[in-house]
Parts: sequence; structure tokens; C-alpha cells
Amino acid sequence: MAHSTLPQRLLQAVLLCLCTTYTSALTLDTTSAASIREVSSQVAHGLMKYYTGNNTGDVPGNLPAPYYWWEAGAMFGEMVEYWYYTGDTTYNTEVKQALLHQIGDNNDYMPANQTKSLGNDDQVFWAFAAMTAAEVGFENPPDGSPSWLALAQAVFNEQTERWDPDTCGGGLRWQIFSFNVGYNYKNAISNGGLFHLAARLGRYTGNQTYIDWANKVWDWYEDSALWDAKDYVILDGASTTNNCSDGSKEQWSYTYGVFLSGFSYMYNHTEDEAWLTRIDGMLNTTTATFFPEGMGPNIMVETTCEPLGNCNNDQRSFKAHLSQWMAVTAQLVPKYHDRIFNLLAPSAKGAAGQCDGGSDSVTCGRRWNSTTWDGTYGVGEQMCALGVIQANMMNVVSLKPPYTSVSGGTSKSDPNAGTGSSGTSSEGGQAIHLTPITTGDKAGAGAITAVILLFLMGGTAWLLIA
Ligand SMILES: *[C@@H]1O[C@H](CO)[C@@H](O)[C@H](O)[C@H]1NC(C)=O
Ligand SMILES: *[C@@H]1O[C@H](CO)[C@@H](O)[C@H](O)[C@H]1NC(C)=O
Ligand SMILES: *[C@@H]1O[C@H](CO)[C@@H](O)[C@H](O)[C@H]1NC(C)=O
Ligand SMILES: *[C@@H]1O[C@H](CO)[C@@H](O)[C@H](O)[C@H]1NC(C)=O
Ligand SMILES: *[C@@H]1O[C@H](CO)[C@@H](O)[C@H](O)[C@H]1NC(C)=O
Ligand SMILES: *[C@@H]1O[C@H](CO)[C@@H](O)[C@H](O)[C@H]1NC(C)=O
Ligand SMILES: *[C@@H]1O[C@H](CO)[C@@H](O)[C@H](O)[C@H]1NC(C)=O
Repeated sequence: MAHSTLPQRLLQAVLLCLCTTYTSALTLDTTSAASIREVSSQVAHGLMKYYTGNNTGDVPGNLPAPYYWWEAGAMFGEMVEYWYYTGDTTYNTEVKQALLHQIGDNNDYMPANQTKSLGNDDQVFWAFAAMTAAEVGFENPPDGSPSWLALAQAVFNEQTERWDPDTCGGGLRWQIFSFNVGYNYKNAISNGGLFHLAARLGRYTGNQTYIDWANKVWDWYEDSALWDAKDYVILDGASTTNNCSDGSKEQWSYTYGVFLSGFSYMYNHTEDEAWLTRIDGMLNTTTATFFPEGMGPNIMVETTCEPLGNCNNDQRSFKAHLSQWMAVTAQLVPKYHDRIFNLLAPSAKGAAGQCDGGSDSVTCGRRWNSTTWDGTYGVGEQMCALGVIQANMMNVVSLKPPYTSVSGGTSKSDPNAGTGSSGTSSEGGQAIHLTPITTGDKAGAGAITAVILLFLMGGTAWLLIA
């Protein structure tokens, strides 16, 4: 074999690198637990690369700008699920640290650094993460810290105190404080969030007060302009300035997920057939709206923004929640299992096919109907891919259903958590200071890995030359 010249060797090194980059797309076999575990692990690794809260000098639980605080809560909730689905404990210590660092002075997920801009939906996503930790038996917080369950109960207690019968006949406003834009908006995710949390607390504790609240929120919701009962359509929100006389028609996948799964916890606990009908109708609309024919088959799409390519950072994560909440529905209402995995399995395969982007070759894009990376990346894309891929574990192995206090759950109840704290007033909010969200630093892990790739290329070239 002839000796190659130095330039030739360099070229070989670069080609080797590029080949590696472009041939290692993730291939998912949705019928194999080992494959789901392996692909989930790669995607989770990519997700946690965005997390800087564990770096010296940074704040545990926060994501760097431009990601909002709520999304970090949603991400850590997903990482609790990651452990539940795969058994991989790699990130547990970091996840637990993050979930406890952000509880705030009143143990209610209203940390002073975030209070000023906090919406009910932001707060409830952290409560969902804590609730998940209680339900899947994630390791409990140390003595002296509130339990996972108590954290969720604190958020419930505060949000029910914010219930506002003075406009629109009831409902929760989007924002907590009157000085924030959005205080005049009653929306699906905030009310769906309280409904969903109440249903889970009711099922976990068996305490009827939570079930009564879930019914109360739903009773208001279904009579409001935020719901089209005939077609099972969720409207995004309505304004208190006109007494919620008309709703915004924007469709978002996570609002469907939050209600669908809330119905499922309610049905699983109460066995009231009325919830089954709602689950059925909601699955019909969810399928028609977010698994549209012509962008499929059976591929989840964030319909309102994804085809236009204009999803914002929040919206880019929504499919993660719909995936998880459809999977929970399959678990709690087994008659819908097959119908749900007929959608989630192809979507997961599609998502894995999008995870061959970036310089690490496992960065995930957004459009799951093509195996050519669409060029998008970020916490949202990574979360969505992980959410739908790991959820397929439920289709191949038998996972313990969410615990209740009488079926193995060990998280201690504190029904009075959060009561009497300043978090319940719409005027207050210590609002010490707010971390500014800048538009810079958007490049995130993609840019970082590009730099790493350059290093690797340099390194490989150096090895070949040496
Ligand atoms: C990051 O978290 C892990 C797990 O808690 C810990 O071992 C490590 O020391 C942390 N790193 C930093 C820089 O804090
Ligand atoms: C609040 O922000 C400051 C400044 O970034 C930080 O030092 C502190 O750790 C944060 N507090 C919490 C509880 O996250
Ligand atoms: C506002 O809407 C609620 C619920 O639909 C209704 O009960 C109430 O009378 C309305 N208030 C006004 C001032 O129209
Ligand atoms: C859901 O769709 C199926 C098939 O079209 C239909 O039979 C069923 O009645 C629908 N469910 C509800 C609650 O409307
Ligand atoms: C994939 O989805 C995009 C919208 O996100 C759409 O424009 C495109 O036509 C779809 N391609 C296929 C092959 O379905
Ligand atoms: C509730 O969920 C469990 C766990 O999947 C399941 O075994 C049980 O049948 C469900 N109950 C109802 C009423 O569907
Ligand atoms: C049930 O929950 C309510 C509301 O938080 C609380 O007041 C009550 O003490 C709880 N009951 C039990 C038995 O825990």
C-alpha cells in the first residue's frame, strides 16, 4: 500500500469524521426494550448537554437563556420519567438536586428569582415533575426537605386559592400577579394544569377534596368559551375583559394532553363512565389535529407552528408532553392502549430518524416525517424526541402503574402545604429580581458540539499524522 501524503491523510481524517457524522442516525426498533433504552439514553444525553445548572457558579434547576423556567421544570419531570422507563440512574442525582433547588422559600415552586414573571402554568409544570417523582417512586428528598407529594400539594393549595369566580363565572387566570401581561387571560393550560394536578392528587391520596376540585375545574371549563363540547376542541384561552365571551382558536398539543391524561386519572380512580366518553372524544380530536393525514402516517405534528417553521421555544417542547400524557392514558385506561401506540410507535421511529443532526450526530430535529435532519435543534426538539421514544417502553415491558399512597407510594402527605403563604395573593410576589431572558446564547449545545467536532477533527488528524 502506497504511503499517502500529508494532505491526503488530512483529507482522509476529515472524511472519516464527516462519514461518522452522517451515518450514525439513530435507528429505533419500537418492539425492543433494549433498542428503546439505547436510543433514549443517547437522546437523554443530548438533552442534558443543554443543562448548565450543574456547572460551577451556575444555579441548579435553571436552563440557560433563551429557555424559560417552566421548561426546566418540564425537562426534569421528563428526566424522572426517563429513569422510570429505562432504569438508567445516570442523571438521578442532578435531577433531584434541580427539583429541590427550585422549591423556593415556601416550598411551593415560587422561587424568588422567578416570582415576578411566574404564571400558574409555569408553577404547575414543576408540580407535575414532583408529582411524577411521587408516583414512580423516585428517590425521596432528604429529611428536612418537603416530600415530592407535599410540593405538589402546596401548588394545588395555592392555585385553588387563586380561583377567580369574579370574571367568566370562575377559572384560573394565566398569570398570578396583576402587574403581568396575561393576568386578564384565562387559558387552557393553566386550568387544565390545575384539573390535571387535582386528579393526580386525588388518585394518589384518595382524598375526595382533590377529586371535588378536579370536578369543579372541569365543570367550569366545559361550560366556558375555552371548550367546544360538540367537537371536543380545546380553545387556548379567553379574556376576562369581555367576561370570556369568545375563545382563541389556536390549537396546541399539550393542552389536549393535559386534559386527556387528567380524564384518565379521573376515570382510573372514580370509574365514572363519563370520563371514558371524554377520553374517547378527546383522542378523536387529538388524532385528527396532531397526527394529520398528509404529514404522516401516524406522525405527531405541532400543527399550528411546525409546518410553518415558526414554533417558539416553548412550543417546540409541547409534543414531549402530549407523548407522555398519551402514554399515561394507555396505562391507566388499557382499552386505549393499542390505539395510542399505533400513533406513538411510528412517531417515535420518526423522531429517532430525526436524531442524526448536529456535529454529535445525535442532535434531534423537529419534523418526524423525514429521516433527513431538518436542521433544527434545542431543548424542545430534544425533549420531544426523548418523550415519544421513551414512552414506547410502556408498549413492550410491564411497568408499574403510578403509585398511590396505598399501592406502594411512600411520599408523605402534607395537605396544608403552601397555605397561608404570600404565593396566594395576586398583588404580592417578592419579585426580588428576575434573570433577564436575552436573545443571545441561542446556539446552545449545537454550537458547543461544533467546537468539539473541530477539536476532534484536529485530534484525529493529529493521530493519523503522528
Ligand atoms: C454535577 O452533579 C453531579 C451529580 O450530583 C455531581 O456529582 C457533580 O459534582 C456536579 N458537578 C458540579 C460542577 O457541581
Ligand atoms: C437566585 O439567583 C442568584 C443570582 O443568579 C443565585 O445566586 C441564586 O442561587 C438563585 N437562587 C436560587 C434559589 O436559585
Ligand atoms: C360572566 O360569565 C358568567 C359565566 O358565563 C356569567 O355567569 C356571568 O353572569 C357573566 N357576567 C356578566 C357581567 O356578564
Ligand atoms: C370517536 O370517533 C369514533 C370513530 O369515528 C366514533 O365512533 C366515536 O363516537 C367518537 N367518540 C366520541 C366521544 O365522539
Ligand atoms: C412532513 O411535514 C411537513 C410539515 O412539517 C410537510 O410540509 C411535509 O410535506 C411532510 N412530508 C411528508 C413526506 O409527509
Ligand atoms: C387503572 O390503571 C391500572 C394500571 O394500569 C389498571 O390495571 C386498571 O385496570 C385501571 N383501572 C381502570 C378502572 O381502568
Ligand atoms: C384532604 O385534603 C384537604 C385539602 O387539602 C385537607 O384540608 C384535608 O385535611 C385532607 N384530608 C386528609 C384526611 O388528609
